[in-house]
Amino acid sequence: MSLVTLYKGHFIDTPTPGKFRVREDAVAIVEAGKLLALEKEVPARFSSLPVTDLGAGVVIPSFIDLHVHAPQHMQMGAGLDLGLLDWLEHHTFPGESRFADEDYARKIYPLFAAELLRQGTLRSVVYGTIHPESTLILAQALEKAGLFAFVGKVNMDRNAPDDLKETTEDAFRDSELFCRKLTGRDGVRPILTPRFAPSCSKKLMEKLGQLSGRLNLPLQSHLSETLSEAQWVSELFPESRSYTHLYNDCGLLGPGSLMAHAIYLSDGEIDLIVERETTLVHCPGANVNLSSGIMPLGRCLDRGVKLGLGSDVGAGHTLAMYRAVVQTVQVSKLLRILKPRENHRTVSLSEAFYLATMGNGEFFTRQGWGPCGAFEPGMSFDALHIDMGLPQAAALSALTQLERFLYAGDDRDIKARILAGREL
Ligand code: GUN
Ligand code: FE
Repeated sequence: MSLVTLYKGHFIDTPTPGKFRVREDAVAIVEAGKLLALEKEVPARFSSLPVTDLGAGVVIPSFIDLHVHAPQHMQMGAGLDLGLLDWLEHHTFPGESRFADEDYARKIYPLFAAELLRQGTLRSVVYGTIHPESTLILAQALEKAGLFAFVGKVNMDRNAPDDLKETTEDAFRDSELFCRKLTGRDGVRPILTPRFAPSCSKKLMEKLGQLSGRLNLPLQSHLSETLSEAQWVSELFPESRSYTHLYNDCGLLGPGSLMAHAIYLSDGEIDLIVERETTLVHCPGANVNLSSGIMPLGRCLDRGVKLGLGSDVGAGHTLAMYRAVVQTVQVSKLLRILKPRENHRTVSLSEAFYLATMGNGEFFTRQGWGPCGAFEPGMSFDALHIDMGLPQAAALSALTQLERFLYAGDDRDIKARILAGREL
């Protein structure tokens, strides 16, 4: 009983994608970091405990980012008039090279962790660079900030600048070593990270696929983000039926795999993704910035693909997942407007919010971290208190306040951040 905490407020979540669930003037009973129940009144057996009244505003599940590049936090907004491959060459690779210097990593990565926290993203799946030492520093910075994250050491053994290229053997050995070092920690866990097919040899991808199976490790990469990248992959791997089949042939697809972007997939490739239970991570901000295209998210949702949402900073220009939620809705409308004959459907705000909380949380749940992403009994109590301080707030419904925050709010409106019952 001593571990029980009570919070009173207006709670909104999306246990299912179709609609927001609003519970006004409710009391969250939190025990040992988990939600015990959400009640209308304080139950008699807890009546002696103090209640933290979150007052005006709304309480929502904290945000989860399923695809973000920590080193690229330094280059947000730079070179975004370029296409993917030029942007990688001229902005991203030179920026990532600097993380060979561990002192630089020690200076920069705490800033990234602080910004995630500021924006209310309390769980994330993060790319580092090829450098194992700097990427360990990244993991420590996230841990120190009290955040939960999967952290990946990037692998590239070809088609990268010399100072960002590893031998196949080094890439594999350093990845295994890195993953072993991150295993068994509280707040951070390892994820295998072959960057994308153009910068990985088939041998490296196969070895990482085997390692993923042997150590039961999750894995992340990029898939079919632009047409020129997909064309390049078909030239590099002429024997593969498609980009998706290539990853499948290398053992990279499974329930623990995250594939970012996936804009240009054939029906057959989507079938394969569904069959392998792989999660596709939608990154709408990045897809617009680099003129990559618009992922047919509505179609993927309706076909039963597992889906998540990512900021993809620095191709995305903000770590704020509430911006990614709105971008998701906006690009789905644009796709419908631009291709009226293709029967695309609009993605609703609740569906997009679901992805940024409950949908992304399912990846953490599946990977054995315990359920999270909504205010359901037994779930980790991960919450943000949002209060825009509007004089007219009393006249707005709780849902309208949330809609207004998602579209027009910012981090100043996030008044409290709670992860597993702990205020950060
Ligand atoms: N494809 C390969 N690397 C990257 C990256 O860093 N960002 C994005 N958006 N796509 C990639
Ligand atoms: Fe990315």
